[in-house]
Amino acid sequence: YDGPNPRWRAGKLGDMAAGSLMVVGAQWGDEGKGKIVDLLAGGFPAVVRYNGGHNAGHTVKFEDKHFALHLVPSGIINPRARCFMGAGMVIDPMALVTEIDGLAAGGVTIGDRLTLSPRATLILPTHCALDAAREGALGTKKIGTTGRGIGPAYQDQAQRRGLRTHLLADPKRFEERARKLMAQHNVELERVFDATPMDLDEAMERLLAAAERVAPMLGDPGPEIRALHNAGQPILFEGAQGVLLDITWGTYPFVTSSSCLPASAAASCGVGVGLLGPVLGIMKAYVTRVGGGPFPTEDHGEVGERLRKAGHEFGTTTGRPRRCGWFDAVAARYAVDAAGIDAIALMKLDVLDGMEELKIATSYTDPEGRTVTTLPAEAEDVERLTPVYETVPGWSASTVGATSEDALPPQALEYLDRLETLLGVPIVVVSTGPRREETMTRGQGPVADLLRSRLA
Ligand code: GDP
Ligand code: IMO
Ligand code: MG
Repeated sequence: YDGPNPRWRAGKLGDMAAGSLMVVGAQWGDEGKGKIVDLLAGGFPAVVRYNGGHNAGHTVKFEDKHFALHLVPSGIINPRARCFMGAGMVIDPMALVTEIDGLAAGGVTIGDRLTLSPRATLILPTHCALDAAREGALGTKKIGTTGRGIGPAYQDQAQRRGLRTHLLADPKRFEERARKLMAQHNVELERVFDATPMDLDEAMERLLAAAERVAPMLGDPGPEIRALHNAGQPILFEGAQGVLLDITWGTYPFVTSSSCLPASAAASCGVGVGLLGPVLGIMKAYVTRVGGGPFPTEDHGEVGERLRKAGHEFGTTTGRPRRCGWFDAVAARYAVDAAGIDAIALMKLDVLDGMEELKIATSYTDPEGRTVTTLPAEAEDVERLTPVYETVPGWSASTVGATSEDALPPQALEYLDRLETLLGVPIVVVSTGPRREETMTRGQGPVADLLRSRLA
């Protein structure tokens, strides 16, 4: 495959990345990153999560087991993978403890396999209260956040008054600074939003109890990642959210507050960009979005309802129904370009089974009738776009659980080919069900080869 990135065009991975791989969401989140990271984790000694917080919900299903990961990298289910949480993340220590206990109850032994950067930003209970208060004040213009305090915590980091995870190992300093910051938050809650201030004694008690549990996990991921890399070991990087939710490249302001692009992984771990591998973009065979913001191909009728039902499109973190619509090749192409996506894993193909015809948005028109071929920077302008659809035949046979192209109907293969042509990058993984085994690799090229070698 003659991809857009000259580094891979030669058909060699070279020695730059030692077979490392970046997994990034290429739509508005919930593309199926958790499934792919879990599937690949067996082939990587280390898995690194680099952005976001417990706004993420990454689902892993196999046998009769079902896990929803929020902060912990999805690689943790694989008993051999070492997992790292980078400095670019925001950490609610109580949420982390709850998640770890839930994993242990589900039979996942973490032991010393999980390392948390001391430079990540802490989410305090007052951040969640501020998140709710700000959303309330926005009324119908609200972002539809997950209410986890993500935006207010990243805001404090940028404002240089945030608290960082290293404080969890220093209870005295932690308490002093946390009380001071939460008292400031309480002033804002009361004066700006007319909301009830938080009980700081109760909040502090919960924070200190969680700190004691989390402190032993603190450690800089950089030295270990560099050592693995220097020993020729590959690293799997797991992004949360997706390109269209990125703080800069997403449909701002209807975005999350972190950088979701793979390039931010190096900064999050404090390693050179040369350690990053090629980028596997994860996309659904259609589009979903949860929360507010523009979504050109959203279908409010029968099609949207059908996709939601067949795809069980309800949020992993908040349980909210996801908005659904046809595949948007313009937004997808934009994501491919912005994130430097080298190859695609196309998820949930099975959800399209039984649809007589499928639509793909190949451009938009604006209210003046002009053709638009990329996502405008202004969200209100995106809101006003009308998609121009190409209609392609659907298929009636079931693709559920298909593990090779031979098992796919010809129309499904044509759909994959058409998307590849529109996006300019190969689809190297097709997913046909939520479970590990309901997956196929396809095509040739460096990323396909890398995936096959890691899955072997
Ligand atoms: P993530 O946030 O990107 O990890 O994605 P989520 O876990 O939030 O949402 C993806 C949902 O789709 C989960 O419920 C998965 O179990 C499910 N899923 C993943 N791949 C497939 C697939 O190929 N087919 C079907 N039917 N479900 C899938
Ligand atoms: P994963 O990693 C889907 C959305 C929220 C809201 C906006 C801002 O599972 O793909 P925030 O709480 O981050 O301030 O909310 O971003 N959002 C997600 N949507 N998947 C996610 O994560 C999301 N994380 C945040 O719904 O629209
Ligand atoms: Mg999710």
